[in-house]
Amino acid sequence: MSTTLITGGTVVSSTGRTEADVLVDGEKVVAVLAPGSTLLGHDLTTSAGAVIDATGKYVIPGGIDAHTHMQMPFGGTEASDTFESGTRAAAWGGTTTIIDFAIQRYGERVEDGLAAWHDKAGGNCAIDYGFHQIIGGVDEFSLKAMETLLDEGISSYKLFMAYPGVFYSDDAQVLQAMQKAADLGLLTMMHAENGPAIDVLAEQLYNQGKTDPYYHGIARAWQMEEEATHRAIMLADVTSAPLYVVHVSAKQAVAQLAAARDRGRNVFGETCPQYLYLSLEEQLGAPGFEGAKWVCSTPLRSREEGHQDAMWQGLRTNDLQMVSTDHCPFCMKDQKEMGKGDFRAIPNGIGSVEHRLDLLYQGVVTGQITLERWVELTSTTPARMFGLYGTKGVIAPGADADIVVYDPKGHTSIGLGKTHHMNMDYSAWEGFEIDGHVDTVLSRGRVLVDGGEYHGSAGHGRYLKRGLSQYLV
Ligand code: URP
Ligand code: ZN
Ligand code: ZN
Repeated sequence: MSTTLITGGTVVSSTGRTEADVLVDGEKVVAVLAPGSTLLGHDLTTSAGAVIDATGKYVIPGGIDAHTHMQMPFGGTEASDTFESGTRAAAWGGTTTIIDFAIQRYGERVEDGLAAWHDKAGGNCAIDYGFHQIIGGVDEFSLKAMETLLDEGISSYKLFMAYPGVFYSDDAQVLQAMQKAADLGLLTMMHAENGPAIDVLAEQLYNQGKTDPYYHGIARAWQMEEEATHRAIMLADVTSAPLYVVHVSAKQAVAQLAAARDRGRNVFGETCPQYLYLSLEEQLGAPGFEGAKWVCSTPLRSREEGHQDAMWQGLRTNDLQMVSTDHCPFCMKDQKEMGKGDFRAIPNGIGSVEHRLDLLYQGVVTGQITLERWVELTSTTPARMFGLYGTKGVIAPGADADIVVYDPKGHTSIGLGKTHHMNMDYSAWEGFEIDGHVDTVLSRGRVLVDGGEYHGSAGHGRYLKRGLSQYLV
């Protein structure tokens, strides 16, 4: 591979911004230089193999989406993006690393679940990828298997307090898994909703003839999220296990996280673009069966109650540390449609892997977060949280040359037939007009996207063995 010079741009990191040129050699960043610098007497603009003009643009580390579900078997069907289509869409949107979830269910071996995920992803990804491990059946065998996860490059695993009969763990199981994780230094990721209570509420609503997608949000009330978040924090407290709560959407859950952090606990929280922008009233409550497009768990929350504002506030004040997508797409046809007449049968999930950087950048445009915080939330903290920092999450000598040139004066219209590369027959973000545009995307020095064209290929992406979280001692 030859050298590439990205020149004229503003290099943005989580700690600041500076006018600088970035020199890439092969797969790595080799220098971040004052604009127009020479190297050993050579004018880099003429000696570099390729020059990317980033004048007037931001040069940022490639996005890391730490929560995706490519081709996940779920809700009686399978998430519609394969590793191939999903990582291609991610690249279009400036995400150069995903961390997906390998699955173990009750009665299955963790090792087999992990091997199956390697089979699905291997040779198919356009960008680099890692895995968390879902432990969907905590028993003596899965607890033992957790001991091998670090050797496999997996330093985090997910438990579910929701979805009884699918991935659900009761409190005794959660406690045992957390004890094991605390011993091993693994980070426990938690789906914090009271699943058994939700299922009763959902059945009662259904029996009352309340079958529309809207009632998905009513059954999964914020109290169900707050209560489970509190319980997870207490179980983490008693086991000294670090805790990362995924897809937080209720303002009361953020308050629980903030209180635990104020008590000095290693408790972290992630929200997703859907909880920043979309609502129970507007999307889940859309006429007819339309709301099915936005059925996901945790559910979209009431705007009148102020949950969306609370998510932005949490991101600003660091009560929430990350924004991932929880990308779990399903088509309306044959998939979401399974729940016509019964919201309980609508597969849960939204597709956003392509739009995370753009959507969060709107927070910079509207003054909700700074440019540096945008980079921190979408790249640097995910790298630090999940044991990738240094190689990923930063533009510095020695780091992988995963780089996005972002044009703040550009414009992106989201929707089918516009910018939409995810394997879905609708966009959850149809009609969103974005200030800003992902112009160029490099993954380990290779240009994947440039000038509106895709140059990536399946198989370029490599499996990332992750280390321990940098947020834990
Ligand atoms: O609705 C969602 N979130 N689907 C994916 C599975 C999960 O709980 O993360
Ligand atoms: Zn979940
Ligand atoms: Zn998820």
